[in-house]
Amino acid sequence: MAENSPAPTLPVPPVGVVGLGQLGGSLAAALAAAGRPVSGWDVDPAAREAAAARGVTITREFTGVVVLAVPLPVMATALDGLTVDPAATVTDLGSVKAPVLRELTPALGTRFVGGHPMCGTERSGHAAVDPELFRGARWAVCLEPDTDLTRWLRVAEVALEVGAEVVPATAAEHDAAVAAVSHVPHLLAAALARAAADAGPLALSLGAGSFRDGTRVIGSDPRFVTAMVEANAGPVVDALARVRAQLDHPWPELVASGHAVVTRQSGRRTVRVPLERAALLALGRAGGAVTRRLAAFVEGWMPESG
Ligand SMILES: NC(=O)c1ccc[n+]([C@@H]2O[C@H](COP(=O)([O-])OP(=O)(O)OC[C@H]3O[C@@H](n4cnc5c(N)ncnc54)[C@H](O)[C@@H]3O)[C@@H](O)[C@H]2O)c1
Repeated sequence: MAENSPAPTLPVPPVGVVGLGQLGGSLAAALAAAGRPVSGWDVDPAAREAAAARGVTITREFTGVVVLAVPLPVMATALDGLTVDPAATVTDLGSVKAPVLRELTPALGTRFVGGHPMCGTERSGHAAVDPELFRGARWAVCLEPDTDLTRWLRVAEVALEVGAEVVPATAAEHDAAVAAVSHVPHLLAAALARAAADAGPLALSLGAGSFRDGTRVIGSDPRFVTAMVEANAGPVVDALARVRAQLDHPWPELVASGHAVVTRQSGRRTVRVPLERAALLALGRAGGAVTRRLAAFVEGWMPESG
C-alpha cells in the first residue's frame, strides 16, 4: 500500500455517545451527518428526543468507541446501568484529564483513552447543539505510558472525522496547558466582572468591547466552571501565580510582551509522524497537531517561526 494512502486497516467502529448536551449532542449529530453509525443516551428525555431527530439511535447498549460527554462530577458513574461491549474503547470529553483518568482506570484499564475537544460555548444543554462545533478545533487525545495505540487511533479518528485536529499529550501535560489557556481565563473573567461591578453602575454602563470580551466566558454555567477549576486545582494555582507575577512587571514591558505573544506570526510545516508514542508526544509538545491518518504514519503540522 502506498504510504500516503488513507489507512483502511481497521473497520470503522460505531460510536456511542453518553450525554447528549452541547458537546455530546454536537458530536453525535456531526457523526450522524457524516454517515457514521452513532448511538446515544442521556438521562434527560428532551436531549434524547433532540438527538434522535438528528439521526442518533437512542439505546443503553454500546459498542465500538464510547464517548462520555457528561459533566465532570458524574463522569465516574456515567456507565452505570448501561451495557458496554467489553472490547469497546471508552473516551471522554471532560475539561480535565488526570482526575478522569484516575477515576476511570480502575474499571476500564487501558480500554480508556482520555480526550478533550477545545471548543464549546458558554451555552449548555441540547439546545446548544452545533454539528459544526468541532471543525478546525484542537482536540487533545491522551497518550499515557501504557496507552494502547490502536485504541488511541480509534479515538483520534473520531475527532478527525468531525473536522478537529488531534493534539497528542499526556493527561498531566494537558491539565497544565489548559490551566493556563482555559481555566485561569475563566477565573480572571470572574474577577474582572466582580471588580467592575464593585466600581459601580457607571462603570458597568460604559463597559464595551474589551469588557465584553474579557468577561464572556464567565457567562458559562457556574457549576460547570467550578467543577472544572476545582478538579484541576494544582495546575490552576501554578498558572495563576504566573499571571500574578506578570502583573508585577512595569506596565509598558507587560503590554509589549503580551502584545508580542498574541501578534506573533508563525507558519506551518507539514510533517509525517510514525505511529509511535514518543514521536506523537513530541508533535504535541512542539505545538503541532495531527490532521490525517495514513497507512503507517499520521500527517499533521508543526509551527515554524515566520
Ligand atoms: N461546554 C464546553 O465549553 C466544554 C468544552 C469542552 C469540554 N467540555 C466537557 O464536555 C462535557 C459535557 O459538557 P457540555 O458542555 O456538553 O455539558 P451539557 O450540560 O451541555 O451536557 C451534559 C449532558 O449530560 C447529560 N447527563 C448528565 N448526567 C448524565 C448521566 N449520568 N448519564 C447520561 N447523561 C447525563 C445531561 O442531561 C446533559 O444533556 C463535560 O465533561 C465538560 O467538561 C465542555
